[in-house]
Amino acid sequence: MKKLVVLTGAGMSAESGIPTFRGIDGLWENHRVEDVASPNGWKKDRELVMRFYNERRKKLLECEPNKGHYGLVELEKYFDVQIVTQNIDDLHERAGSKNILHLHGELRKSRSSVDENLVYDIDGWELKIGEKCEKGSQLRPHIVWFGESVPLFGDAIDICKKADVMVIIGTSMVVYPAASLINYAPAECPVYVINPASFEGPSAKVIHIKKGAVEGVPELIDILTKSINN
Ligand code: APR
Repeated sequence: MKKLVVLTGAGMSAESGIPTFRGIDGLWENHRVEDVASPNGWKKDRELVMRFYNERRKKLLECEPNKGHYGLVELEKYFDVQIVTQNIDDLHERAGSKNILHLHGELRKSRSSVDENLVYDIDGWELKIGEKCEKGSQLRPHIVWFGESVPLFGDAIDICKKADVMVIIGTSMVVYPAASLINYAPAECPVYVINPASFEGPSAKVIHIKKGAVEGVPELIDILTKSINN
């Protein structure tokens, strides 16, 4: 089977009811990014950071995967599909996709604040001050914050290098290093983009489906399955 690598961002889950990041005001749900998603923010006000992610988690539990997520599962009938997502939600998992790499962490997990390898599932929506890892340190959200390194980036590069087909769904491709992953696709690898907005990429090899994920993924399935049959 050919390898289909799918890079996804916030737009993938927009139609499930999870807002994208880059609104016009530059704020995340009324907070400055540095306050809620950086090691400094955590140092300054842990309560605020915990509350922020608890609210996100609570909302996530009310959301469901959309037709775009399910479409990517269907593609596993025809391709060896590997998803590399910048999203911290678990909608790809809940839809049933098999291979998912979370570049920026996972909202429904916590981790030790002294050892990033100690990762735990969060039961329900709430992580509390006072909940500790087995080494006795406060648990923090299992999220890669601004200013932190991206531990799985090397794995993501290896995946992209092996792509026969690449698909990029719902990301503005402005946050690095994630945005550079497109450059690791082999030269002959076709790249499909599903995004209702214009896409600034290496335009020569990009086929742009200018739609949201819910409409765009079924269209992609159509194109890809026809190309297999021809
Ligand atoms: N379907 C597909 N794409 C959509 C849809 C939709 N229904 N709605 C919006 N989009 C597109 C927007 O046009 C935009 O290009 O999704 C993109 C969302 O971009 P961002 O909000 O910048 O999200 P993302 O690229 O995932 O951000 C990357 O930035 O803040 C950090 O860590 C955070 O992982 C995040 C990273």
